[in-house]
Amino acid sequence: MKAAVIEKQGGIENIVYRDWPDPEPGANDVIVRVKACGLNHLDIFVRRGMPGFPVPMPFISGGDIAGEICAVGDDVSDWAVGDRVTLNPDTHEGMIGEQLIGGLAEMVRVPVQNLVKLPDNLSFETGAAIPINYGTAHRMLFHRGRLSAGETMLVLGASGGVGIASVQYGKMVGAKVIAAAGSAEKCEKLAALGADFTINYAEEDFSAATWKISEKKGVDVVVNFTGGDTWAPCLRTAKPGGRVLTCGATAGHSPETDLRYIWVRELDVLGSNSYSQNDVAKSVAYAAEGKLDPVISDVLPLEKTGEAETMMEDRAFFGKIIIRP
Ligand SMILES: NC(=O)c1ccc[n+]([C@@H]2O[C@H](COP(=O)([O-])OP(=O)(O)OC[C@H]3O[C@@H](n4cnc5c(N)ncnc54)[C@H](OP(=O)(O)O)[C@@H]3O)[C@@H](O)[C@H]2O)c1
Repeated sequence: MKAAVIEKQGGIENIVYRDWPDPEPGANDVIVRVKACGLNHLDIFVRRGMPGFPVPMPFISGGDIAGEICAVGDDVSDWAVGDRVTLNPDTHEGMIGEQLIGGLAEMVRVPVQNLVKLPDNLSFETGAAIPINYGTAHRMLFHRGRLSAGETMLVLGASGGVGIASVQYGKMVGAKVIAAAGSAEKCEKLAALGADFTINYAEEDFSAATWKISEKKGVDVVVNFTGGDTWAPCLRTAKPGGRVLTCGATAGHSPETDLRYIWVRELDVLGSNSYSQNDVAKSVAYAAEGKLDPVISDVLPLEKTGEAETMMEDRAFFGKIIIRP
């Protein structure tokens, strides 16, 4: 098969479109013919290298996968060749696209218990835009963050995959959503998606703007997977007893903090990691019911994976970048 292979860790030039051996199913696996694979910031971290998380090279990243089953293992009975599927990439053997060979390829091996049926009314592109972003947001906002109707939530990096999922989930449950992103155009699109307020943090101090929007009360929930120099100012936006949620650190994992806000306002700083089968399956079901509408930014062919990752690194996208083998 053809694949976008990371030959060694480093820059974009290390992604090579080339032949790779076809995957073989184990007894409880299926092989999925990939129709669409969504990019995540994780793909960039896997390619660049993450301290403490060695990835065997050469490697194929890509965990957000939708496609059709093209082969089944000997013990598989509930799934058949031709079934439309998406999947939960967090398997008992490791994460597909991080520890296991991923879906930026024509085919991928998937343990059967990680499959999620892709309803007929969802395209493969939409199917590939759901699992990681909406699964992550579902766990972070509801299981960890206990977000509920009527609460106010600030989302930083709201224009990306997890960001848009957080905005849409916030609106779905009746929260008031302040969406912060890096350009006026992205803010306009977030308003069109239903964000109650938007902040362009390329031009405005998001911390001061949020304080003003909240009428100097602060917000109930802050979603911050950016880290870096957004961390300390985001603590200032939370109201007494507020929850600050993090699932990542795109701009730096060892930020400066300001402990005063944490103790004086008795803030809960809550980490959230990964997602369960249920988080993914529920997200797919909500999309099929029309309660969530994943935003596709761009669709590129597999041989342009490097170009697509550059778009992500340059923040030149809104929503999900999809690769089509
Ligand atoms: N723990 C988990 O299980 C888990 C699961 C999924 C994702 N994550 C993490 O969550 C974060 C977001 O993931 P994602 O796939 O949604 O990423 P993404 O699509 O690249 O979105 C990140 C957004 O953050 C904004 N941003 C702010 N500062 C940035 C910077 N220095 N570099 C790049 N973007 C910056 C960008 O929007 P603007 O241009 O509008 O500012 C960008 O669209 C990542 O750190 C990822 O590793 C963790």
